[in-house]
Amino acid sequence: MGITVARSVPEPPRHVAIIMDGNGRWALNHALPRAEGHRRGAEAVRQTVRTCAEVGISYLTLFAFSSENWKRPKDEVQTLMGLLRFYLESEIEELVKNGVRLRVIGDREGLDREIQTLICNAEKRTIGNTHLNLTVALNYGGRREILLAVRAMIRDAVTGELDPECVSEEKFEECLETYGLPDPDLLIRTSGECRISNFLLWQCAYSEFVFLQTLWPDFSKADLLTAIEEFHQRERRYGGTKG
Ligand code: FPP
Repeated sequence: MGITVARSVPEPPRHVAIIMDGNGRWALNHALPRAEGHRRGAEAVRQTVRTCAEVGISYLTLFAFSSENWKRPKDEVQTLMGLLRFYLESEIEELVKNGVRLRVIGDREGLDREIQTLICNAEKRTIGNTHLNLTVALNYGGRREILLAVRAMIRDAVTGELDPECVSEEKFEECLETYGLPDPDLLIRTSGECRISNFLLWQCAYSEFVFLQTLWPDFSKADLLTAIEEFHQRERRYGGTKG
């Protein structure tokens, strides 16, 4: 009889953010069209949301489409938008049932109307859920988010509503799209690339970064646990000293 050794699940970080990368290379490695890589990537999203809820992560933020991704060929952008629409339509009941609250950050005005409506409905339907906070970054860019916050503060300063001397980190964070979410404790990027690619630039100031070789469509519970274990081996000092 075989012996099964259960992998122990260390206490999870509160907020995990993921740059999902490698769909195209996964497709290439399997001699499949890039669209199939994205489709398998969307499947990995569904599994990851379930796993995060299961292991007790409270906040999960996924980078699904960057403001730079419009530079991709038109048919690839259409595939990604189609998957997104499909995800929003087919997963909503599952999110509601499992206590997942969905939020979307990024410039949604740039997305097509139908997707904007689906996002709005999904956010409304899940607003009371507290088990897992799922944030999907869509048409998102960290620099743009910071610039918009600066612009909003300057506007308030010009009208006299904001005293420039009162501009603090807390005040600034109120102008970010992620207001109300804790900063990510752990940022994972798949596919071996070691960059932040304009994702959560302000919010990741003290995050631990874990870069995995796994291509996103292959991302599994074991990969998540590996990243969490690595996170636990790090010593977070926030600029202070040990102890
Ligand atoms: C990177 O792969 C991945 C993306 C462009 C975005 C991730 C999108 C999905 C997982 C699908 C839909 C998402 C949801 C939320 C349903 P890449 O094409 O850059 O890979 P490559 O670097 O190997 O070419």
